[in-house]
Amino acid sequence: MPGKYIDCLRLNGHMLRHLLRGRVLRPEDFSLSYDALSSRYNASWLTHLAPVTDRMLALLPKTGPDSVLLDLGCGSGHTTAFLEEHCPDARITAVDISRGMLNEAVKICSRSRFECADMLEYLRRVPAESVDLIVSAWALGYSHPTKLFREVRRVLTPGGILLFVTNLATTLAPVFHAYRRTLARYPERTLGAIFHHFPPDAGFLHRLLEKNWFRMDFFEEGRIGVTPPEDVPLAEWLLSTGILAGFDRILPLASDPEVAAYFTGEVRNSGLPLAHRYVMAKGIKL
Ligand SMILES: C[S@@+](CC[C@H](N)C(=O)[O-])C[C@H]1O[C@@H](n2cnc3c(N)ncnc32)[C@H](O)[C@@H]1O
Repeated sequence: MPGKYIDCLRLNGHMLRHLLRGRVLRPEDFSLSYDALSSRYNASWLTHLAPVTDRMLALLPKTGPDSVLLDLGCGSGHTTAFLEEHCPDARITAVDISRGMLNEAVKICSRSRFECADMLEYLRRVPAESVDLIVSAWALGYSHPTKLFREVRRVLTPGGILLFVTNLATTLAPVFHAYRRTLARYPERTLGAIFHHFPPDAGFLHRLLEKNWFRMDFFEEGRIGVTPPEDVPLAEWLLSTGILAGFDRILPLASDPEVAAYFTGEVRNSGLPLAHRYVMAKGIKL
């Protein structure tokens, strides 16, 4: 037990040193991770997410001619391609911070405008009340939801719609438990301090929507059971999904075999099933 406290103190010391040197997890870290895994994302992770994403897309309203649509964190283009097919007269802009992911998206999309940008910075450049529909699948948590929702409200037209699915901070508990244990075990091998803004729970998102004057048309909290493939080492598979995007820039899970082995052992020892926890919602701007 005392060892645990000493590990915790050592980790805090290292994190403080990173903070003082200005080495913290930034949006660019997520983009570098997604660039590196972009060619594997569809096979390793989109296959798990797509059934839920498609249920969200079934909530898409009919859009009129010349409607303006935004896809935030479009990744490899699964949602963007759907928008192109189902909203034939709409003007679609898809935003993602990773050039690698956008390179995948252009392979399956033909008429959307793609922007390589941080979604919050992008929204800040969009004129007020100029967008009819904002869609986002599995990406809002990478931004700053409180600031982001404020901007979403500003840019949407009255009656405009925000349709999203996003994971919660409690997602894939064994992975992030193992990650924290590995940080504590190897604090001297960390490369920065971590701050993230993944929504803590469904109540937080519900309150945020209400606070920004959205009428809830749909709100669901759910989980997706995930079974890792058996023919790929666990750490390697996790790194190819995006589950550890950004976090793998802080702890050298890809390049340090000892760290990767400890981390994998901790995930397996947890004995818990992997479950991706999410909230899906459709809000109408009042
Ligand atoms: C889990 S993927 C989801 C991709 C896609 N929407 C889908 O459903 O497959 C998350 C995406 O968010 C992007 N992303 C992460 N942080 C971002 C940010 N700050 N601004 C814009 N995109 C971001 C990543 O590059 C990645 O493509």
